Amino acid sequence: MSRTIKKSKMEQNYNIAELNVLLGVSGAIAAYKAVDLASKLTKAKAAVKTIMTKNARRFVGAKSFEAVTNSAVFTKMWHTSDEYKIGHINLSQWADIVVLAPATANIIAKIANGLCDDLLSTTICAAFGKPVLIAPAMNSNMWQNPAVQKNVETLKEMGFEFVGPGTGRLACGDDGIGRMAEPKEILEAIIKNSSKEQ
Ligand SMILES: Cc1cc2nc3c(=O)[nH]c(=O)nc-3n(C[C@H](O)[C@H](O)[C@H](O)COP(=O)(O)O)c2cc1C
Repeated sequence: MSRTIKKSKMEQNYNIAELNVLLGVSGAIAAYKAVDLASKLTKAKAAVKTIMTKNARRFVGAKSFEAVTNSAVFTKMWHTSDEYKIGHINLSQWADIVVLAPATANIIAKIANGLCDDLLSTTICAAFGKPVLIAPAMNSNMWQNPAVQKNVETLKEMGFEFVGPGTGRLACGDDGIGRMAEPKEILEAIIKNSSKEQ
């Protein structure tokens, strides 16, 4: 009996091969799920470069992203390279889409207010005009905090897209809203977004 690989309807209709995906990972427990997302994107033949915040690296190592994407992971604003290239400008220009997964309350606040104090926030600021997809992940109280909701609304008004968060069991042990969307759902949102550009 021959084995056939069943593709989802979404995968059949759209192609993200050669799409340059800049994956931003911030310091939430769901950072481990971003490794699966990076792997799924690479499998779909997208080119993936990852930026991790200092706090993201407390949850998951840069090596995991390097290994699944076959690409360097960027962590510092002030790193020296042989070629003179400004990291955040270079990365923002390279990206066809920026995907922030997981997005902490902190990075959401920073990008809603134009703060640029690390490589991830500065690159997103420099990526103005590019599609940015945000997958928040946090405790329910944090998500429902009016300050966080205000930042989310600001970003939506500015054209940033959101996927999730979902409701269910959270890493802190609570049940409620704040779960990062599953990698498959984020992948589908990327495919949907990139199909708008075609
Ligand atoms: C164990 C632990 C789990 C955390 N989980 C989350 C989380 O799921 N979402 C969130 O917004 N912040 C979470 N935080 C807090 C962030 O790590 C903190 O706000 C940090 O400043 C975020 O930095 P970054 O946005 O630069 O990565 C957690 C902190 C700890 C110690």
